[in-house]
Amino acid sequence: MTESAAMPSQSISPESAQRKVRISVLRYNPQERGSVPRMQTYELEEADGMTLFIALNEIREKQDASLQFDFVCRAGICGSCAMVINGRPGLACRTLTRSLGSEITLAPLPVFELIADLSVNTGKWMRAMSERLQAWVHMKQIEVDISRLEERMEPELAQKIYELDRCIECGCCVAGCGTARMREDFVGAVGLNKIARFRLDPRDARTDADFYELVGDDSGVFGCMSLLACHDVCPKALPLATQIAFVRRKMAGAGWK
Ligand code: SF4
Ligand code: SF4
Ligand code: FES
Repeated sequence: MTESAAMPSQSISPESAQRKVRISVLRYNPQERGSVPRMQTYELEEADGMTLFIALNEIREKQDASLQFDFVCRAGICGSCAMVINGRPGLACRTLTRSLGSEITLAPLPVFELIADLSVNTGKWMRAMSERLQAWVHMKQIEVDISRLEERMEPELAQKIYELDRCIECGCCVAGCGTARMREDFVGAVGLNKIARFRLDPRDARTDADFYELVGDDSGVFGCMSLLACHDVCPKALPLATQIAFVRRKMAGAGWK
């Protein structure tokens, strides 16, 4: 056999070449007596189009049924599969293993209550934050008259509100945020984005003075260090840098009055 015949075919593109990936997962179950934090490594054959979500399912089905992680939609919509992927928060269902090296490290999102392994209780945190910020439309009209036509909204404004409503509450921005790591009561970029969203809504009766009461301190917009990790890691590419700057400017104005 000639040397060239022994070489792998040059026609196989790097994309289609099979490879093995090693996935190391930080495992710990605070509910389980005797459980200690440890790294556990799994090896598997990478398939075409494999996402981390698919890889984790394969591990759970074929290698280790005790591995815990969350998912619902598998389409980047529910936000439940967020985890720290090679040190950076992201969605497992939207991350191709091919986009990473063959050694992958996974850890649960910090800040949120750990359930076990890669599963965290983002819902509890998000609910507390939403209640604290009263994240719902405070209607100008208290009495609801169902026979009245809804107020019209200009399509451009509806589009702007929709843009901020795309948040899936995955928690990536909170997990990547230095302030959220230091202050338990910090509302995070997700909370500040909500304030920007309700401030835009003409149906919401609240004034800047009302919003100042909610986020006009260090647990709100003045606790933000503007390093913008939140903006960099948001899987929905929300314009968090612009929104935080906007809310800060408006709250600074409200504070002077
Ligand atoms: S703002 Fe982005 S990163 Fe933060 S919770 Fe919403 S979608 Fe996730
Ligand atoms: S810019 Fe503010 S909200 Fe975003 S990660 Fe930094 S401190 Fe957190
Ligand atoms: S499973 Fe819903 S966002 Fe990943």
